[in-house]
Amino acid sequence: MARIDDDMHDAGSTQRAFTLVEVAPEPVPADLAVVTPPSSEKRRRGDVFRPGPGPMVQFQGVIKRYDGDVRGLDGVSVSIAAGEFVFLVGQSGSGKSTFIRLCIRELRATSGHVIIGGRDLGELRRSKVPYLRRAIGCVFQDFRLLPDRTASENVAYALQVTGHSRQEVNRRVPEILALVGLDGKGDRLPRELSGGEQQRVSIARALVNQPRLLIADEPTGNLDPDTSQGIMDLLTRINRTGTTVLVATHDRDTVDRMQQRVIALHNGRIVRDAEGGYNEDPGDTGEIA
Ligand SMILES: Nc1ncnc2c1ncn2[C@@H]1O[C@H](COP(=O)(O)OP(=O)(O)OP(=O)(O)O)[C@@H](O)[C@H]1O
Ligand SMILES: [Mg+2]
Repeated sequence: MARIDDDMHDAGSTQRAFTLVEVAPEPVPADLAVVTPPSSEKRRRGDVFRPGPGPMVQFQGVIKRYDGDVRGLDGVSVSIAAGEFVFLVGQSGSGKSTFIRLCIRELRATSGHVIIGGRDLGELRRSKVPYLRRAIGCVFQDFRLLPDRTASENVAYALQVTGHSRQEVNRRVPEILALVGLDGKGDRLPRELSGGEQQRVSIARALVNQPRLLIADEPTGNLDPDTSQGIMDLLTRINRTGTTVLVATHDRDTVDRMQQRVIALHNGRIVRDAEGGYNEDPGDTGEIA
């Protein structure tokens, strides 16, 4: 593990990590302490990915071409600072999932640079990619839960792979399930949970390793408005403790209600980058990034 730590961690950046948080984090409520990123001074086991002093997410002239010359992203440059809450919006096929999959190196850029926590993912060795993915909390529309494991086991697995003791796992899993509103449902298999509950398990799993960056692709895509609001409220609370949150969504109502930074994609390009509502109309380019 030490060797990996060294590889993922730029020497000298430790003391400066997270000095760029633009919104001063609020005092951490007791129930959120379990998911709050540790201060830069504390070193935890499994903490193999330490964001440096620059932006949390940076795209520099990123082009992603799929087979057949389909342009998933067509020259995207953008920067997201540590501590921001950002919505990524745009109609179907505009490039949201492509953007997110590039951030976790499920895809590689055809050209340009994807830089996460100061690390250029184009230069990250393949053997290190699992450590990147464990360090970024990721939530997907289709949940990606292990179907033959209970809710608790799904969350526990994320802790086990980062080397936590059984004692720690036994302590943290119920805490985090309670945090996402799944008290008492830890023993259920995914198929015995509703869609919203499964999504909460996937959020619990994404949060349990206290990521500094939480990325969610359509986390409320299949959920009713009340459940969606509950999920978004949870993401907002987590953001307030200093975690950077990036959410791709079609959910116009939620975006309009939350009045956060909105990056709008259209045909693989950023057509708007501003605080406010959804405003999908690509013709309204008064604020082109
Ligand atoms: N694996 C793939 N192979 C070929 N083309 C792809 C692939 N994945 C995505 N694309 C194409 O890339 C473009 C962007 O797709 P992407 O999935 O990023 O869109 P999206 O904004 O997430 O859409 P949605 O809202 O429907 O999820 C689309 O034209 C899509 O057809
Ligand atoms: Mg998508």
